[in-house]
Amino acid sequence: GGKSSSSDTILSPDSFKDQMCNILGQLEGIFSRAIQSAYPEATSPVVQIQLSKHADYQCNAAMALAKSLKKNPREVGEKILNNVATNPLIAKMDLSGPGFVNVFLNQDFIRQQVTNLVMKGVTPPPTTPMRVVIDFSSPNIAKEMHVGHLRSTVIGESIARLMEFLGHNVLRLNHLGDWGTQFGMLIAHLQDKFPNFATSPPPISDLQTFYKESKARFDEDEPFKKRAYEAVVKLQAHDPKHIKGWEEICEISKKEFKKVYKRLGVVLVDRGESFYQSRMEDIVKSLGAAGMLEEDEGRKVMFAEGADIPLTIVKSDGGFTYDTSDMACMKQRIEEELGQWLIYVTDAGQSQHFKTLFACAKKVGFYAPDRIRVSHVPFGVVLGEDKKRFKTRSGETVRLVDLLDEGLQRSEEKLREKERDKALTQEEFTRARDAVAYGCVKYADLSHDRARDYVFSFDRMLDFRGNTAAYLLYALTRIRSIARTAGVSSEEVVSMAQKGTVELDHEKEWKLARTLLKLPDVLIRITDDLYLHPLCEYLYEVSSVFTEFYDNCYCVEKDSSGKIVKINNNRLVLCEATAAVMEKCFFLLGINTVSKM
Ligand code: ARG
Repeated sequence: GGKSSSSDTILSPDSFKDQMCNILGQLEGIFSRAIQSAYPEATSPVVQIQLSKHADYQCNAAMALAKSLKKNPREVGEKILNNVATNPLIAKMDLSGPGFVNVFLNQDFIRQQVTNLVMKGVTPPPTTPMRVVIDFSSPNIAKEMHVGHLRSTVIGESIARLMEFLGHNVLRLNHLGDWGTQFGMLIAHLQDKFPNFATSPPPISDLQTFYKESKARFDEDEPFKKRAYEAVVKLQAHDPKHIKGWEEICEISKKEFKKVYKRLGVVLVDRGESFYQSRMEDIVKSLGAAGMLEEDEGRKVMFAEGADIPLTIVKSDGGFTYDTSDMACMKQRIEEELGQWLIYVTDAGQSQHFKTLFACAKKVGFYAPDRIRVSHVPFGVVLGEDKKRFKTRSGETVRLVDLLDEGLQRSEEKLREKERDKALTQEEFTRARDAVAYGCVKYADLSHDRARDYVFSFDRMLDFRGNTAAYLLYALTRIRSIARTAGVSSEEVVSMAQKGTVELDHEKEWKLARTLLKLPDVLIRITDDLYLHPLCEYLYEVSSVFTEFYDNCYCVEKDSSGKIVKINNNRLVLCEATAAVMEKCFFLLGINTVSKM
């Protein structure tokens, strides 16, 4: 529900003057209409447009349609072909095999699109703007941010960038775990260790150790445990001293998280579970009044259709839970933030939780599936090279800061091995090191099907061959350097494009242009299901197709002494278009590019 598919709208030829065309989506629209006018009696026929070896695209609808209508497939193909309305995209069509309709794209249209791309940059596919609320990263206060949160952070940032690029109004929320029962023991421990915490901020440098100490006391020391429970009650009753202790602890944690976000270039608005306290009280009351809560061994639970396990709304000690806060939070995002698309990026272990949450929200009525879209974006576990859960040698969870530090160090070694330190200034070298390190960590995550577990390996992600950020970032600098070594500036390339010099006569030029113009369709696809790996596959494809082009088509011709004898303007325009597309992909993946490395 509430889904906006850009391929639903067929635009007039004029609307692509300033905008990149979603060619596949447009062809789907064109053929869908053709089928409708040829066979009005057909009920929801599948349009089936694909890339083709013999042509640019092909429509395979005739076969299935012929079967359901009990007709000859070749005749059906022919009739579809004859019903295709005149349009700016298609130059010609023919029929092959049992009824495939081959589509050859209009060269002038493609040339115009490449020119636009260079002059105006990558433009988003047509989209109806929505209010999108995306919940990602969301680590828990006083606990270490771990690789699971890294996945949420990287995937969430990329989805947020995608949504913003499409023109949506995006709210990026960090749903911090800042309101659990763990605060009882933390505050009690704080009172003992730093009795002056209210007046002078406690010098806790390692919150994780502090957490472990308080947990050990909680488990062994009965009177301490009792005090911890009392502290939770006082905290939830907003006792100023307890609130102060809680604030201090949150502050220390948030500072640590911020360091990670800064390094990764991630932007988030902090809004933890505590924000919803009064809203939780309200929703518990109204759920009770509406008769939606059931007693279960002292707990109050809520069942909904299609979910086997209920939500726990009130615990037997009267406290609220993760479920309670998510109910209040979802309502707040719909009714106060006016969210039209709610996205939650968490590990796949929480799929059941979100399924139940959505079902309960629907039952209460604040979530209407036909008006609001909700997506849980689950991801798999990060594994070590031994294929077991990613841990340090001593079996501890890996701290994110340590992981990123190791990435930097490894990236630096790699670049030194390639003697980049000799070719670059100190500043350029540092920039390249950072881009490669963080880029590789992000790309390794995003290029895998997120729903699956993935193996974290610095060796693999820093390899300069294959589908890695190290390789792709390097490929981009090479493309950028082609015009630079020919002494042509970016502005000059743009004005070459303006003069309309793009020619696509060589087979590899044509292939490159067609590949570049696939970007809008890729973006529409990844927006639909929020799987980002097709964007990485596409980026890698662009770089491969570029290599094919570059190996076959001279851009800058030199004589045997290395002197430039001819600059092929037309092809510099294609280089520029390739760089623009690759830049945009990197940007959407949250990866910084460099001009030299
Ligand atoms: N704090 C949770 C965790 O560490 C993630 C929260 C996700 N967001 C939400 N609204 N439940 O797993």
